[in-house]
Amino acid sequence: MKNLRLGVIGLGNMGKFHADYLVQNKVARCTLTALASSSLEKLGRYPDVRHFTTGEELISSGTVDAVLIATPHYSHTTLGIAAFEAGLHVLVEKPISVHKADAERLMAAATRSGGVFAAMFQLRTEPRYQKLKKLIEAGELGEIVRVNWIITDWFRTESYYASGGWRATWRGEGGGALLNQCPHQIDLMHWLCGTPRRVRGFCQFGRYHDIEVEDNVTVFFEFDSGATGLFVTSTGEAPGTNRFEIAGTRGRVVLENGRLCFTRNESDMRTFSKAASSGFAKPEVWNIDIPSDNASNQHAAVVENFVEAILDGAALLAPGSDGLRSVEFANAALYSTWTDQTVTLPLDGALYEAALEEKIANSTHQKRVAAPSMVTDFAQSFIR
Ligand SMILES: NC(=O)c1ccc[n+]([C@@H]2O[C@H](COP(=O)([O-])OP(=O)(O)OC[C@H]3O[C@@H](n4cnc5c(N)ncnc54)[C@H](O)[C@@H]3O)[C@@H](O)[C@H]2O)c1
Repeated sequence: MKNLRLGVIGLGNMGKFHADYLVQNKVARCTLTALASSSLEKLGRYPDVRHFTTGEELISSGTVDAVLIATPHYSHTTLGIAAFEAGLHVLVEKPISVHKADAERLMAAATRSGGVFAAMFQLRTEPRYQKLKKLIEAGELGEIVRVNWIITDWFRTESYYASGGWRATWRGEGGGALLNQCPHQIDLMHWLCGTPRRVRGFCQFGRYHDIEVEDNVTVFFEFDSGATGLFVTSTGEAPGTNRFEIAGTRGRVVLENGRLCFTRNESDMRTFSKAASSGFAKPEVWNIDIPSDNASNQHAAVVENFVEAILDGAALLAPGSDGLRSVEFANAALYSTWTDQTVTLPLDGALYEAALEEKIANSTHQKRVAAPSMVTDFAQSFIR
């Protein structure tokens, strides 16, 4: 194969965004050949592309070699499995699935088919995160001892939640801030620092909005190494904060306001502590600003890597199977809140699925759906 025929399933905010750069041929050796949406009006924007009214029809049409799934969360699993069973390659929007058991079903289908499975974790293409990864892997930070991410600037209005029937319900979305806004940050934390062992969540449900899922979250976690972490998020706090801080034995790195600042200990704090004669001495530090540009089109870069993986056997920047970790962390934080217990990973996926089904069955929330507000600058939703 010299050129990949790609189909996009779902033409909501995200699907339209993907279709627009694909139709402009922004990804080399990739042609947008098919689109699936129930809205004929949306399909009309792309007259030269084959149209289908459901993802299932597109998958069985023979018009594509691969699909990009940009539909509501639960259907990532069902459409992804159908695509793998039809012999297609799959790039799925985040979260790869709503819960761990579904993510494992999707991963098993990928393994059975041998198709390429990738996840749309576009922040992995950002130079600042790539530099952070390089710094950690080079041992510049020493051993990681603490990870904190306060990302409370995901402010969303009532109008946002009312803009889609699936949003912010257990049945339609399967979660709130942890499943919709934060999969990227949770993925990056795992990508950079590894998977924690113990998770304790304090989630608040509908604290700021008329919704039944979490819109205010604090999660404590601990790694096997003894390193500890804190993840705080909210869609109800304004102005909010976005500060990612990783402390290691050789220093501390902070990513805030687009600046990556490394405060480097002149010597490892453990060595220093043992050798120092004064009880109040501290290692000398160097302050280093690490420059980084913004990636020009993060999403297209992920698709480009997906195409290279299929056509050339290139390594995936964001393998679909990595998506399990952010799903499991989010599930664990919710389960921990529901049970008022610390959760030790790996989480029991069947237990979580049953608990989620119970939430769906017992839901009494009256979902309000308004006419969609004009989306004037959807890109605001992922500039991070
Ligand atoms: N990577 C990112 O930066 C980013 C940003 C926003 C949203 N997302 C993700 O993209 C996905 C979609 O979010 P959105 O904001 O576009 O939602 P949306 O509600 O705006 O759009 C979803 C669309 O999918 C369509 N759809 C549902 N089931 C379908 C099916 N079986 N076949 C074809 N179409 C179907 C709906 O009609 C709707 O048009 C979600 O997983 C979301 O988390 C990713």
